[in-house]
Amino acid sequence: MTVRVHYAGNPADWPRYRPVLETGLREHGINASFGTGDADRPEDIEYLVYAPSGPVNDLSPFRNLVLVQSLWAGVDGILRDPALNCPLARMVDPSMIQGMTEYIAGHVLRHHLGTDRFAKARPGEWLSGLLPPPASKRRVGILGAGVLGTAAANALVKLGFDVTTWSRTPKSIPHVRCLHGEAGLADTLQASDILVIMLPQTPETDNLLELRTLSMLPVGAAVINPSRGWVIDDDALLEKLNSGHLSGATLDVFRVEPLPARHPFWSHPDILITPHVASETHPESAGKVVVENIRRGVSGEPFLHLVDPERGY
Ligand code: NAP
Ligand code: GLV
Repeated sequence: MTVRVHYAGNPADWPRYRPVLETGLREHGINASFGTGDADRPEDIEYLVYAPSGPVNDLSPFRNLVLVQSLWAGVDGILRDPALNCPLARMVDPSMIQGMTEYIAGHVLRHHLGTDRFAKARPGEWLSGLLPPPASKRRVGILGAGVLGTAAANALVKLGFDVTTWSRTPKSIPHVRCLHGEAGLADTLQASDILVIMLPQTPETDNLLELRTLSMLPVGAAVINPSRGWVIDDDALLEKLNSGHLSGATLDVFRVEPLPARHPFWSHPDILITPHVASETHPESAGKVVVENIRRGVSGEPFLHLVDPERGY
């Protein structure tokens, strides 16, 4: 029996995925045929390896899929396809976790140390009074305590920060104050000198950070968003920065990407923009996750990292 796999990720990454998928499936004794680009007979495909940066933007021709395996952690786009009629697995990739942990730790430290203020100093401006408090006195809140939020929380605890996480359901992470549900949101925001947003985009998280919720942050707080742009109301963020309530924002994701050149975020002195590069999926490790899920499908075992369409993540 031959398993039919179609790679619909970023075409540039196919040469790196191909050997991992071919070797991995062969090692499991699985015979597979691989396609990429436009599928000749989409109705024959069983496993669709998908990324928003790939060629497939409509699942309707793929009528007999066993699994859609996303190469991205966030599945907000593909979940909206009404033709999705099979299980959808999202990507949980050790290299992506490492990359996101580095991004979050790096930018938390940047805001904590006040690095941008020193970078903007005029010649002779000797800012010796701008000493940061010890990390133990800096409160970091993380909205989202899933795979990426938890890894970031653990790293920040190791650096000595005072960390609070917020999630939908209760969590327990050593040395972290874990809050959840509607009731936990205000407490988390009030305890966030630096706020990291690590939530998926769902109907519940859309515009979660608007004027009312951003106002719950302490005066001088900074916001770091490497999750999805729709979680923040752009105008509310600008208003809170312009009023001085917030000291800065680091944004990796936006409602429209690439962020249009005329968007006011570009010219704001207190916003640092990174172009959706916080962390990427690495074919060498992510390919193994794809292989494992196909192996599971072939042997009738439950898939890993399944998305719950009701929850939206
Ligand atoms: P995850 O493991 O699914 O974690 C999501 C977390 O958000 C969970 O803790 C979940 O709570 C919480 N959550 C969801 N809806 C909530 C709500 N309404 N109220 C409170 N908490 C809620 O996802 P992940 O792997 O950490 O990734 C998070 C997001 O990061 C992805 O969806 C993607 O959009 C983004 N991302 C961005 C990049 C980039 O390069 N910029 C890279 C990778 C991922 P429970 O634990 O209670 O379910
Ligand atoms: C990137 O944004 C991802 O969701 O993997």
